[in-house]
Amino acid sequence: MSLLKAISLLLAVCIVNASKLDLLMPEVAPDKADTYLCIPLKMSELNTYIVGFEPHANKKVAHHMLLYGCDTPGIPGAKVWNCGGMEHPSFKSAGTCKTGNKGIIYAWAYDAPGLTLPKDVAFKVGGDTGINYLVLQVHYKDVSSFLPPNNGVDSSGVSLITTDVPQPKRAGVMLLGTGGMLPKHSVEYFETACKYRESFTVYPFAYRTHAHMHGKVVSGYVIKDGVWTELGRKDPMKPEMFYNVTTTGVRINPGDYMAARCTMKNDEDRNVYIGATSKDEMCNFYIMFYTDGTKTTSQNCWTGGPPSFYWDESTQYAKAIHPENAPENISTEPESGKSYKITTRKVQPIVQDKYLDTLANLRKPNDDGELVNLLRRLDSSYRQRYRDQGF
Ligand SMILES: *[C@@H]1O[C@H](CO)[C@@H](O)[C@H](O)[C@H]1NC(C)=O
Ligand SMILES: *[C@@H]1O[C@H](CO)[C@@H](O)[C@H](O)[C@H]1NC(C)=O
Repeated sequence: MSLLKAISLLLAVCIVNASKLDLLMPEVAPDKADTYLCIPLKMSELNTYIVGFEPHANKKVAHHMLLYGCDTPGIPGAKVWNCGGMEHPSFKSAGTCKTGNKGIIYAWAYDAPGLTLPKDVAFKVGGDTGINYLVLQVHYKDVSSFLPPNNGVDSSGVSLITTDVPQPKRAGVMLLGTGGMLPKHSVEYFETACKYRESFTVYPFAYRTHAHMHGKVVSGYVIKDGVWTELGRKDPMKPEMFYNVTTTGVRINPGDYMAARCTMKNDEDRNVYIGATSKDEMCNFYIMFYTDGTKTTSQNCWTGGPPSFYWDESTQYAKAIHPENAPENISTEPESGKSYKITTRKVQPIVQDKYLDTLANLRKPNDDGELVNLLRRLDSSYRQRYRDQGF
């Protein structure tokens, strides 16, 4: 190595001043299939910049891992707890965060190639950010390796590559989603849209989709003057991690619109509602972005979903986003080429704008638990009316 190279290498190390923070399961042995366990990591009182993630997961046992930012963790002081939304025989239960869920900042799933943040981009945590804790959730789908005769333990987790040197570009995640109902024996569109309300540009570089077992295609877009550009499109049954956006170089500028659609198919003899359990559904499209400076946003995008909200019937959005310009492949699975089309809209839409306003006025509806509760409350009055219409 030349002297110059050695010096510049040394310089790089000094400037980045990187250190590694480990967030690893404390040798757990969950004894029930589909267990979700959470562990906390307290952040420094100094601003900390996360510039990379190194997953350490045993894909034989960990189905997926999600990293959340929190004000306080689900059970303050606890080393590990059950954060799966249902009671558990061996672990105390709570949400991922007790207060101040700032949303997901990293996701790993089976087969994931790993997420690289672009150069100079970092998530800012600790210090004055309100993210006092990171909480890692690991989903153990199959627990046979922990039961006799295997009796194994697991310490899956993630190492965060951090530095206290401020990085020039700030990362963030926005979440687009819906409430709503998927009628039995039908294909339904869950649609959401909103105007990007900040005064600065964001640069999307990765996306993630999330739905439960009825999800066929989840796709997300930026809309400028009625022109739709795809950010991502995926069969949500594929590993649910952050993937590179499907169109590079896209900016979201003040006044642009964002939209997402989840195409779902229900072959069951029951109506399915958006909700927290695995029998319920979810329709989520995440956009990971960076900004040019120190500002970031936690703007999210929510609508009531079907049957109370469709793009083309929305007084607020039909003219703004031009749903007729949506790409033809919007409900096509990119992996298989298979397309889905909505079956007859069987339920009359119910006055949408009041519902929409309530959701739009939520400040930070990005906690799965909080959000689902809210959607439940708002939905409960609709359920009776669906029933009255014969559902
Ligand atoms: C994602 O994009 C980054 C930066 O453009 C690139 O280095 C990386 O190889 C891409 N990953 C995949 C899986 O395509
Ligand atoms: C999807 O449709 C858009 C608009 O028609 C087109 O530009 C794009 O290439 C299509 N994507 C694929 C993967 O075929």
